[in-house]
Amino acid sequence: MSEQSQEVLHLEALRKSYNISQPNEVEVLHGIDLCIERRDFAALIGPSGSGKSTLLNILGLLDRPTSGELYLLGQPTSKMQDSERTALRGSSIGFVFQFHHLIQAFTALQNILMPLMLAHGKPDKQATDRARELLAAVGLEKFAERKPNELSGGQQQRVAIARALITNPALLLADEPTGNLDTQTAEDMFALFRKVHEERDCAVLLVTHDPRLSKTCDRTINLVDGLIQSDTRGQEVVEGST
Ligand SMILES: Nc1ncnc2c1ncn2[C@@H]1O[C@H](COP(=O)(O)OP(=O)(O)OP(=O)(O)O)[C@@H](O)[C@H]1O
Ligand SMILES: [Mg+2]
Repeated sequence: MSEQSQEVLHLEALRKSYNISQPNEVEVLHGIDLCIERRDFAALIGPSGSGKSTLLNILGLLDRPTSGELYLLGQPTSKMQDSERTALRGSSIGFVFQFHHLIQAFTALQNILMPLMLAHGKPDKQATDRARELLAAVGLEKFAERKPNELSGGQQQRVAIARALITNPALLLADEPTGNLDTQTAEDMFALFRKVHEERDCAVLLVTHDPRLSKTCDRTINLVDGLIQSDTRGQEVVEGST
């Protein structure tokens, strides 16, 4: 199998219910089969409430499915202990949220180093150099010592992207990363995701409500009422996904 078609993540018959065994139990994902490859620069779209964030949180190992299996880099994750899932998430997945969740007391540089500090304690020179390199990659080399409240919304989101990349993840997930940015900044952010995808060999899956942004992606996965209604790469329908 070539590097280009390498599988990063794969879902089989994945279901998710909330409030299990309570009167308000509700199933929101009804059996999802999906494969994400290294080459994917994909948009996850669909109406509000269709299950996009629920799905993304499961893909990012932030939440567990009710049934079905999620393979990350070939490893089945359903029977893993929380500690094992946390370690796998830390080493293979970068997550960018709609609101950046930066730590206000930390500088941009320290925020980027956070995932490494959580895993390994005090960062060494190599880690700090890498964080500076990522700051430069997102165009913020001059802002290393700024706190989040001294940066614009778009700049804060770029710090969040750099933070998601510090561990060199195989998969970058982003839940409406441009939801609270103006049109131009949102387009710039998508161009930055594209650059990351191309330069770092990292699969990217982005949730967006903006059709102009999803059109710039190579693949579009449309989730409706907890099921994948369509999944296309360019004009081609992705196999096994109806
Ligand atoms: N913790 C929860 N407990 C109960 N129900 C939930 C919970 N989180 C989400 N839901 C429900 O699951 C469904 C899917 O929600 P989800 O947040 O995944 O949708 P979404 O596609 O991301 O929507 P949006 O585009 O508005 O962000 C919704 O009906 C929502 O009310
Ligand atoms: Mg959502």
